Amino acid sequence: MRHRIAPSLLSADFGRLNEEIEMVTVAGADLLHLDVMDGHFVPNLTFGVPVVAAIAKVTKLPLDAHLMVSNPDMYIEPFAQMGVEYFSFHIEAVNHSHRMVQRIKQHGMKAGVALNPGTPVCLVMDLLSEVDFVLVMSVNPGFSGQEYIGSCLNKIAFLDIYRKENNLNFEIEIDGGVNGENIKSIVDAGTDIVVAGSYVFGGDYSKMIRSLR
Ligand code: DX5
Ligand code: ZN
Repeated sequence: MRHRIAPSLLSADFGRLNEEIEMVTVAGADLLHLDVMDGHFVPNLTFGVPVVAAIAKVTKLPLDAHLMVSNPDMYIEPFAQMGVEYFSFHIEAVNHSHRMVQRIKQHGMKAGVALNPGTPVCLVMDLLSEVDFVLVMSVNPGFSGQEYIGSCLNKIAFLDIYRKENNLNFEIEIDGGVNGENIKSIVDAGTDIVVAGSYVFGGDYSKMIRSLR
């Protein structure tokens, strides 16, 4: 299947969110990536339940919520009610990751586990038969516009081989520093969902998205 593009609203103009969502939709976004940060798990604070509820009301695009928070558990219920489709939490943030995955799926959402650049894949091996997707971070979470960390490609390539060999069908998502230059190696490694923030919002949205295809 062709890879899908998920623009991250973190790089949008928060004062004109509706308009930005409309523009990136027309430009061809496949999903909307929502970066939820709590100022605790990461050194930045973005938005939570009320803003995601407002976004859910104005878009038909599938919502991809990336929880960079210390307590992702409390977002499961409200996000499921709003119709969020993809819900990822960080393996570094929780003690009971298997239970988290089960709860997310019980609420009808696709469950994803996210890995910081310094976190090895072996930490999530026992979740791979349970999750719907793995989010591989290619920057340290917290901010858009950071430099791409290329070693993440080893993780993606490993995950792609592993799922083929074991007949698993979780998707692989990459997040951070993606641009027109590194996209080819990212897709070649086996990535299904490509998050891009500053690259998409830093130019003509449809041109930028097209260059990532
Ligand atoms: C970083 C976020 C990303 C961010 C990506 O913590 O998880 O989703 O918006 O932005 P770029 O594409 O600019 O690195
Ligand atoms: Zn993200």
